[in-house]
Amino acid sequence: MRPGAAVAEAVAAAEVELPLAAFADAVAGCTRCPLAKTRTQVVFGSGAPDADLMFVGEAPGFHEDRQGVPFVGAAGQLLGKLLAGIGLTRGDVFVANVLKCRPPGNRDPLPEEIEACEGHLFHQIELIRPKVVVTLGNFATKLLSGKPLGITRVHGQEQEVVLGSLRVVLYPLFHPAAALYTPRMLDVLEADFARLPELLGRPVEPPGPAPRLGLAPEPVEQVQLGLF
Ligand code: URA
Repeated sequence: MRPGAAVAEAVAAAEVELPLAAFADAVAGCTRCPLAKTRTQVVFGSGAPDADLMFVGEAPGFHEDRQGVPFVGAAGQLLGKLLAGIGLTRGDVFVANVLKCRPPGNRDPLPEEIEACEGHLFHQIELIRPKVVVTLGNFATKLLSGKPLGITRVHGQEQEVVLGSLRVVLYPLFHPAAALYTPRMLDVLEADFARLPELLGRPVEPPGPAPRLGLAPEPVEQVQLGLF
């Protein structure tokens, strides 16, 4: 058996049938891309396993890689403050990233890394079954919308998408790390964030199986798994 094949098999099996904690255990040994060699640990995600609200950032940074938890640095502090502003804590939501492993030097994720890792994210979303998925910044927004439109153009504009077998409201926001250093962006992020209670309270169809292909109502986007 080639090196890493057992882990690859475990992850593939987990993607089919295991609940979130068991899936996290399987992903902890992932060797799907070279980041496995440079990471301290896989940063799977944290929060309520059945959260209605899920956040998807870009990739773990230095502190996340050390602690094994997403958004624990300065951007994470801001995310916590924004959540407190709408009466929520990190324990009420689930926070994850497009990449589960830190790119060396915090460089941008490579397309092949996103391609290797995206199955983990899609499966996480299917297990958590959130109503609203907030994408933070460009990488998460482009991946989960299936469109090349940048965050400056689409922030604050909710859309219904079908991710795998689940229909969710996708809500792109500026990345908190970018807003930390740009006061005008922070104002926009705060204003966009303030709409989350309204989106969560909307009587959208409860998460459930996606309509069969061809039966989806017009505005629903069918996001294909494997975008690169
Ligand atoms: N920390 C994370 O976990 N993700 C980001 O995108 C930025 C900081």
